[in-house]
Amino acid sequence: MIKIAIFASGSGSNAERIVEFFSSNEEIEVTLVLTNNPAAGVIERAQRLNIPTLIFNKTLFSKTDKIVEILQSQQIDWVILAGFLWLVPNNLTRAFENRMINIHPALLPKYGGKGMWGHYVHEAVVANQEKESGITIHYVNEKYDEGKVIFQAKCEVTSGDSPEDVAKKIHELEYQYFPEIIYQEILSAKNSIVE
Ligand code: GAR
Repeated sequence: MIKIAIFASGSGSNAERIVEFFSSNEEIEVTLVLTNNPAAGVIERAQRLNIPTLIFNKTLFSKTDKIVEILQSQQIDWVILAGFLWLVPNNLTRAFENRMINIHPALLPKYGGKGMWGHYVHEAVVANQEKESGITIHYVNEKYDEGKVIFQAKCEVTSGDSPEDVAKKIHELEYQYFPEIIYQEILSAKNSIVE
């Protein structure tokens, strides 16, 4: 069994779709949800979906090897960041090199980097009168939003759109593509292993 852990800081609507997507897959499953936010909606979602959750603080995450140890002891193969807002420390990016995928709610390299997350991204897109926005699915390295891009999809932004309207369009793209792209990456990594 290929095991996925999902990190999320907020509502967790993407996390839920990923869990659902793999629930009928006999080879791949989501076995753990991790969050830095004790009030995150993802906790309630994970409980409803029967996925164990782990809540951690900044020191444990950034200054110790504990998270790497937990993921390794649970034989996690892939890490997915689905609305996770902290910079991932080097020990974790190294342990999951080419096996950690993030989704960003904009067309990177535009609107990426520290402080550019969730509604801040959509507010900036609207303020700059962009004609389009979109999603970027990419591998994670030690810098915010700079790992290798796997996939992008675009949506139109019209002059009447509020940041909330853009957020809705972006979420639709995320639900449509994120689980499928994760699946494709896992399969292609699996097929590239010579046995
Ligand atoms: C998603 O739109 C995701 O792209 C974004 O947070 C939202 C989480 O929504 N991630 C970032 O901004 C990361 N920089 P969700 O909790 O409902 O899945």
